Amino acid sequence: GGHDVVVVGSVNADLVVGVERRPGPGETVLGADLATHPGGKGANQAVAAARLGARAALVGRVGDDGHGRLLRASLAAAGVDLAHLATTPGAPTGVALITVGPDGDNSIIVSPGANARVGPDDVAAARAAITAASVVSCQLEVPLPAVAAAARLGAEAGARVVLNLSPPALVPDDLLARCDPLVVNEHEAAFLLGPDGPRDPAAMAEALRRRGPRSVVVTLGADGALVAAGPEPVRVPSPRVAAVDTTGAGDAFTAALCLRLARGDALPDAARYAARAGAAAVRAPGAQGSFPAPGDLPGP
Ligand code: RIB
Ligand code: NA
Repeated sequence: GGHDVVVVGSVNADLVVGVERRPGPGETVLGADLATHPGGKGANQAVAAARLGARAALVGRVGDDGHGRLLRASLAAAGVDLAHLATTPGAPTGVALITVGPDGDNSIIVSPGANARVGPDDVAAARAAITAASVVSCQLEVPLPAVAAAARLGAEAGARVVLNLSPPALVPDDLLARCDPLVVNEHEAAFLLGPDGPRDPAAMAEALRRRGPRSVVVTLGADGALVAAGPEPVRVPSPRVAAVDTTGAGDAFTAALCLRLARGDALPDAARYAARAGAAAVRAPGAQGSFPAPGDLPGP
């Protein structure tokens, strides 16, 4: 059979500095030692899914450089199928410049590099994997034409399409209509709903669902998630954990969600499991290095 999850998405080297506070314009602050971690929302999802036991593949691009080799090694160690991870000569591997504050909160600037070269041709080259997948999972760190092509191809072949609207951007209605679910945090939900939209998470989830997705998940960090799939939104809890670094927690959540949907779970059950994976990922530094194996999941 095909993969549980085919991720079409970004691959970044995360350059991370811990800071007491972030500099304002024109200001300089001293931070902790630089750490270089494998990251990128697409690669993170593929690694997180594989570590939880999924047969996972990644469609994406890296540059012909040290960062690209770091990312390939991390993905390969997790067991991700890299047959559709291409190398773009002359483009740098994507980089994320990340500051982590005292509470484990992060701020991120992404320089897309090779990720910006991912296009519909890459999706076409991965047609066999995408059409045989149980779930096709996308985010918005690669260009929209690639995401739209992957969602269309997957949906037409009967795969379940999951879209994490991160970083937030307006997407066409036909793409939204294929999402089952659309996964957003509160910022991304507010972006889509506009300044006059609802602010209560359950109302946000319902309002987003009326925009066309088959289902919606609004992630709420330590407060779990809201699932809008049936007549009433369902609240899902998160285990309590001490936050060290939240980077990649959303990716771990979405990856775990995709895995459980591929295995046939109903969406609220998949979201309960996903919240445990997201919570596990905030307990350690970096993204991919913090992703749990099934035995590492905190209790429900
Ligand atoms: O979601 C976390 C990821 O966002 C980081 O790994 C960084 O690469 C950015 O893409
Ligand atoms: Na982490």
